[in-house]
Amino acid sequence: MDGNGRWATKRGLPRVAGHRAGAEAVRKAMRAAADAGVEVLTIYAFSSENWRRSDDEIADLTGLMRFYLERELKTLEKEKVRLQLIGHPEAFGSELGQRLQKAVERTAANTRLTLNIALNYGSRAELTAAAKRLAVLAKAGEIDPEGIDEQAMAAGLQTAGLPDLDLLIRTSGELRLSNFLLWQAAYAELVFLDILWPDFDEAAFNDALAAYAGRQRRFGGR
Ligand code: FPP
Repeated sequence: MDGNGRWATKRGLPRVAGHRAGAEAVRKAMRAAADAGVEVLTIYAFSSENWRRSDDEIADLTGLMRFYLERELKTLEKEKVRLQLIGHPEAFGSELGQRLQKAVERTAANTRLTLNIALNYGSRAELTAAAKRLAVLAKAGEIDPEGIDEQAMAAGLQTAGLPDLDLLIRTSGELRLSNFLLWQAAYAELVFLDILWPDFDEAAFNDALAAYAGRQRRFGGR
C-alpha cells in the first residue's frame, strides 16, 4: 500500500491524512476483490521494518487500525469477509491485539473473501521460523530430515491453508518486493502501478486484473 505519505505531502497535508485515505482505499480494494470473485486478498499494512518510522507515525497508524477495525467490523460481516492476520500483531499492544482477535473470531465463518492483513510482517522472519520449527521436530525425532519437502515448509508458514499468490500489486511506482510473501509469491504475476495507494480504487484493481489476465503463466514449463 505504497504512497500514502506522498499523497498527503502533495496536498500539503500531514502523513497521517495519507494513511487515513489509504485505509479508505483498503475498503475499496476489499469490495472490488470480493466483487471480482477473488478468494484471498492480502494487504501489507505494516512491515517488520516499519518500526523505523517515527513514534508519532507509528502511534497514528496504531490509532487508525483501532478506529477502522471498530468501524469496519460490521462491513466485514455484511460483505461476508473473513479476517485473517499474518505477522506479529501482538507487538501493537494487548488492546489492539484483543480487538483484532475478536474480529478474526467474529468473521471466522465468512466465505465470500478472506482479507488477510499483514501486520508487523516480514517474509524472512516467517521463513526462518518455519525452518526452525522443522529443525525442532527433526531434533525431537518426530520427522526425518530427509523427508522435508516444500509442503513441510509451506505448512510452517503463517499462510498455511491459503493458496499461493497469483497476483501481486504494488502501487506508487516502487519496483521491489520488500520482504513480502517471498515464498508464496514464487510464481506470482507482478503488477506495478504508478498510482499512489490512496487513489487505488475498483478501476485500478480491474486494470491490474486485466494485466494479470493477459499474462501467460507457465510455472517454469513451456
Ligand atoms: C505505505 O505508505 C503505507 C503504510 C506503511 C501504512 C499503511 C497502513 C494503514 C493505511 C493503516 C490502516 C490499515 C488498515 C488495514 C485499515 P508510505 O507511508 O510508505 O507512503 P510513502 O511511500 O509515500 O511515504
